[in-house]
Amino acid sequence: MNNWQQHFIQVGQHGSDSYRDAMQQSVAQLVQLFETTEKPYSAMDANTLQQAVYNLSLDQAQVAPLSQVIAETAEIVARNAIVVQHPDCIAHLHTPPLIAGIAAENFIAAQNQSMDSWDQSASATYVEQYVTDWLCNKFGFDQHSDGVFTSGGTQSNIMALLMARDWAADVMSGHNIQKDGLPEYASKLRILCSTKSHFTVKKAASIMGLGEEAVVRVPTNRDGTIIISALSDTLAQLKEAELIPFVVVGTAGTTDHGAIDNLTAIRELADQYKIWFHVDAAYGGALMLSQAKTRLAGIETADSITVDFHKLWFQPVSCSAVMLKDKSNFKYLLHHADYLNRESDDLPNLVDKTISTTRRFDALKVLMTLRAVGSDTLGAMIDHLLAQSQQVAALVNAHPEFELLTEPPLSTILFRYVGQCNSNNIDEFNRQLRVQLLKAGIAVLGETTVDGQAALKLTILNPCLTLNNFNELFDKIVKFAKALK
Ligand SMILES: Cc1ncc(COP(=O)(O)O)c(C=O)c1O
Repeated sequence: MNNWQQHFIQVGQHGSDSYRDAMQQSVAQLVQLFETTEKPYSAMDANTLQQAVYNLSLDQAQVAPLSQVIAETAEIVARNAIVVQHPDCIAHLHTPPLIAGIAAENFIAAQNQSMDSWDQSASATYVEQYVTDWLCNKFGFDQHSDGVFTSGGTQSNIMALLMARDWAADVMSGHNIQKDGLPEYASKLRILCSTKSHFTVKKAASIMGLGEEAVVRVPTNRDGTIIISALSDTLAQLKEAELIPFVVVGTAGTTDHGAIDNLTAIRELADQYKIWFHVDAAYGGALMLSQAKTRLAGIETADSITVDFHKLWFQPVSCSAVMLKDKSNFKYLLHHADYLNRESDDLPNLVDKTISTTRRFDALKVLMTLRAVGSDTLGAMIDHLLAQSQQVAALVNAHPEFELLTEPPLSTILFRYVGQCNSNNIDEFNRQLRVQLLKAGIAVLGETTVDGQAALKLTILNPCLTLNNFNELFDKIVKFAKALK
């Protein structure tokens, strides 16, 4: 007799005892870990860590009881993970998750709904539709709009640009890319964005068969926003050269600077050239909940919008959505499968709106967060982060050993260590500083380049931090830098 049942939740009395035990033990291990964590990374040497992971045998003969596996996971994996809740973990657009979102993850995993069809999700289909309707409304879209959850900003951007491409071919020449592939004029199609737009715009172009060269990158002002006159000139030049610009991407929160493009001005140009306007609001979209929502003026005129909940909406990875102003454009993603889109019933199947098939029930995290935390409270957190970023920038500016490289429009601080540094190797020194701080487990900082200079980056996404946390972090960086020289 096998006893496979012990590995699954069973319906009925005592059918979920082992599930409950595993969850209780996992939570207890995590609580203990959070209570005893002192550093954002354990400082285990990378090779030793790799070896420790590779020593976890995958052989059937070495299978152990789940309780033992949970304990070793806590000790080897969790203890040597990056601690996103730690005040000195401040590198990426990688947020400490809200507890409501983590609770939702438990429902998501245990019930394992799949969002492709109603008969794999039932209530979950309505939750996702309810949350996306709410979102569309928040962003100023009307009843003709719709949205769908995706795995992240990357997928949201790819889907939006794909629909823009297929829409353009349809409107321009009645060509059906879904059915007939790229039209003969495909090599002339152009996507416009700024030099600071996310790299996924290029990735989308290559995946869409247009090639990265189809992306025309327009220069930015010093603050990282697209130069509108340059965009206008570029559009005119492309037309002049008989090329076919079909979409312009505005960014509401560039990854490094947090710059928000002038969305209203981009819309006007998009209208003038009759092209699609996509807004990548993966980072800045959450401003819509805050007092600073006026900085997104014009976003409501976009044809499509990317929003990432696993950034400034504090959700566990993954959680993102793409919205369309005109929901009929989702038709460019529709493919019939007999087993999923049955016309014989009147139940909604969300597979019609996405490039995924099996899909996570991430919308529950947003629903539970809006119910337990509230959109105004989220907005207040964003306002706090924006104000605090200005204060942190002022601290950096006043610090004798740091140089602030640009004022922060959102919540990233770009700076570098310059204290008693040989100016010939400031770039290399800052790169080394970041990686050595990480390896020593002292701080997890970001690194990028600003105007060709190596820069350190703080991405301020943790609303629980105080200015004192930043002062302490700066002391640690300076002390470490002095020892490194
Ligand atoms: C502006 C912007 N767009 C898109 C993305 C990609 O999002 P994701 O990592 O969720 O795929 C990012 C990621 O940082 C981003 O900053």
